Amino acid sequence: MTLERSKAPARLQNAPLYDWDELVQEDRVHRLIYTDPAVFDAEMVNVFGGTWVYLAHESQIPNPNDFITGKLGLRPLIITRDENGQIRALYNRCTHRGTTLCRWDKGNSRSFQCPYHGWNFLNTGKLRGVPWPDGYASKLVQEDKFNLAQVPRVESYRGFIFGTLNMEAPSLPDHLGPIKKPIDEWLDRNPGGKVIVCEANRLKFKGNWKLAYDNSGDGYHVIFSHRSLIQTENRFADEATKKGMSYYQNSPDTLPMYCQYMGNGHHFKDKRPNLEARPGGLWAIESLHPGMEHVQDKLRSRYGARAETMLDLAGSEPVNINVFPNLSLLGNHIQVFQPVAFDETDAIWYGTKIEDVDGTLGEEVLTDINALRMRTQEGFPNFGEVDDVTNFEQIQRGLAAAEDEWIYMNRGYAIPDRIHTLEDGTIKGPATDELFMREYIREWKRLMKAEPDIAIRREV
Ligand code: FES
Ligand SMILES: [Fe+2]
Repeated sequence: MTLERSKAPARLQNAPLYDWDELVQEDRVHRLIYTDPAVFDAEMVNVFGGTWVYLAHESQIPNPNDFITGKLGLRPLIITRDENGQIRALYNRCTHRGTTLCRWDKGNSRSFQCPYHGWNFLNTGKLRGVPWPDGYASKLVQEDKFNLAQVPRVESYRGFIFGTLNMEAPSLPDHLGPIKKPIDEWLDRNPGGKVIVCEANRLKFKGNWKLAYDNSGDGYHVIFSHRSLIQTENRFADEATKKGMSYYQNSPDTLPMYCQYMGNGHHFKDKRPNLEARPGGLWAIESLHPGMEHVQDKLRSRYGARAETMLDLAGSEPVNINVFPNLSLLGNHIQVFQPVAFDETDAIWYGTKIEDVDGTLGEEVLTDINALRMRTQEGFPNFGEVDDVTNFEQIQRGLAAAEDEWIYMNRGYAIPDRIHTLEDGTIKGPATDELFMREYIREWKRLMKAEPDIAIRREV
């Protein structure tokens, strides 16, 4: 492997864009961090190049030579599992004249042929051959510089594949730190402690990517922004059988749910404690969807009390686990944010399936449970997310007002005894606080000030 250092961070260092302390203050941030294309360009180097970024899930490339295409910031990638099982994140960029090499979403291939002039690359990144090679003075396949660029550090945590260009970033487990615990719990409630990631439901919004991350643990907006979803979910419910996120009504801060900042930009909204006091498991708060009841009734009549455990496997886990800068685990779904421009973001949802690892469920029950898990997308991912992306687009519009400069993240700020730092350094506060925003944007500022040791690698 050869490493090549990027010159881009040095350019930023020589001509700092802004005084970041001026733009990111204790309880407010300046509109420019959402509206200035130059800040966006710098983020693609310092944030998406400087920290670990979620790339894909191992279950999307289970077999040798499987691949999917993805992104690291704006860098197009091919995430492959080569013949020996090694997972790589190849730059989806031909080394000849720079076109994207692979234009499929996914597939299985040992090699990729460039659509432009036909250069052919192995899925290890090595140039395998070029058409009419005697037109070149030397043998291109023997020169490392023509092998595809690769993300130099690619690691998985329990199936989630991350990559970073920063040679000085901590190890992935150290970087994830305390957020590993809720990820473990999210996985361990499933058979074998794992999920299979399903096809994508792709949304795009005309707004900055941070607007989505700002919102990822925001418990303040729920009852206002998602009123129609909550009312739909509860159209047949009485007080005792209320479903979905209805617990946000009245006084959400007096409930046992909480928001916890986990370090390195990650945070966790835990709504599970709200349910401990009420009868029934997770399935009891799953909203109704036409046709779902049929499967539920069938399982209950066949399996009696055991059906409730099965149905809980289909229920949406009431957590928001947010891994900075681009991954959220919500309910039984995964959401990935992909920046496109300072005012455009792809927000991609994936459903997850479970496996019958020890044969205790059987084929038919497994199919039913996985069908129900997919149907839970008809709740928040389809009928709630549209409210959120509308907010993001409307914020971006509002921030066009140049003279009104500040955005406040001050809920819960400077109130004694409202927020607590725990022994492990994590910080806990009420569910509606903007604590996690103030903390993650501090991590964002740290990255924007830093000089990441950015490199790519090529096979030799
Ligand atoms: S750009 Fe790929 S072969 Fe020319
Ligand atoms: Fe929301």
